[in-house]
Amino acid sequence: MNATTAAAGHDPVHPMDETELADLQRRLLAWYRAHRRDLPWRRTRNPYHILVAEVMLQQTQVDRVIPKYHAFLARFPTIAALAAAPTAEVIRAWAGLGYNRRAVNLQRTAQAVVERHGGELPRDLNALLALPGIGRYTAGAIACFAYEQDVGIVDTNIRRVLHRLFIGPELPVPQATPRAIQALADRLVPPGEGYDWNQGLMEFGAVHCTARKPACVVCPLRSHCRAYPAIQAALAAAPGAAARREEPFVGSSRYYRGRVIAALRRLPAGAAVDLLTLGPQVRDDFSPAWLPWLYEVVAGLARDGLAQLAEERAAYDAGDPAAGDPGRLRVRLPH
Ligand code: ADE
Repeated sequence: MNATTAAAGHDPVHPMDETELADLQRRLLAWYRAHRRDLPWRRTRNPYHILVAEVMLQQTQVDRVIPKYHAFLARFPTIAALAAAPTAEVIRAWAGLGYNRRAVNLQRTAQAVVERHGGELPRDLNALLALPGIGRYTAGAIACFAYEQDVGIVDTNIRRVLHRLFIGPELPVPQATPRAIQALADRLVPPGEGYDWNQGLMEFGAVHCTARKPACVVCPLRSHCRAYPAIQAALAAAPGAAARREEPFVGSSRYYRGRVIAALRRLPAGAAVDLLTLGPQVRDDFSPAWLPWLYEVVAGLARDGLAQLAEERAAYDAGDPAAGDPGRLRVRLPH
């Protein structure tokens, strides 16, 4: 079968014959071997270390992850140590990474690995997928980067690179479903070279074929790229127009959730704080009128396993103003 021909229908993926695909694979692998960064998680095949790195890297930049990765593994050297730690400790160790829910989910994964697999992350993709907190990307990354299996993986960078190479520009909207991109990624992996191939695609997307400023002028894959003509035309017509608008972060719900967790981390271990004391640490304009709002933020964190509310909560939920004073509600990191 043609190496990149999928089932019939409106497949947006441009077919590529085996000679062309082999040339593309050779060029990407050569580029990676010449340009790869020396990153700590590329020096190990320890599945637990790979898991920690991949979860951290999902929403945080490489530069910020590196020191946190080392500190986290020093604090929780094994998956069993992570599973057994107080959740509050795990959330504290996550400081500076953002998206704190990942810390709680990572610990749940560790606990399931201890309970179901004796503390050893499974090699099998489906067994990995069955673990809580592990999606297709993370499962594939462990199978490939820890166990060196030839499976396709798709993160934001890989999706952009494959879309450009085989379909065309991703903007204004992607022309392929996530399932189609995953299937494409799976059939492109050169046998026996999955590790370098996937690291290479990721690296290429991170530093060369970037979202806003792809380095097409010096691109080793240009002759294979379905997006190259359109990207050049767009850059010539409106330089800088490709820049994406950023969502405002300050003032967003995630921003205030982060402020609450930061305040809870500052408490002595095991201590709780009442909402009236917490409020001014979360927003400068805090007054008791903000208590219902603060309660909603804290309750959301509690639902996600990131905070614990003290028992007065029930009275407040019941809406009886005499029964509970919301300002006296106490909150802390989960035990
Ligand atoms: N982002 C996610 N995984 C990565 C990896 N293994 N190397 C570099 N950046 C990454």
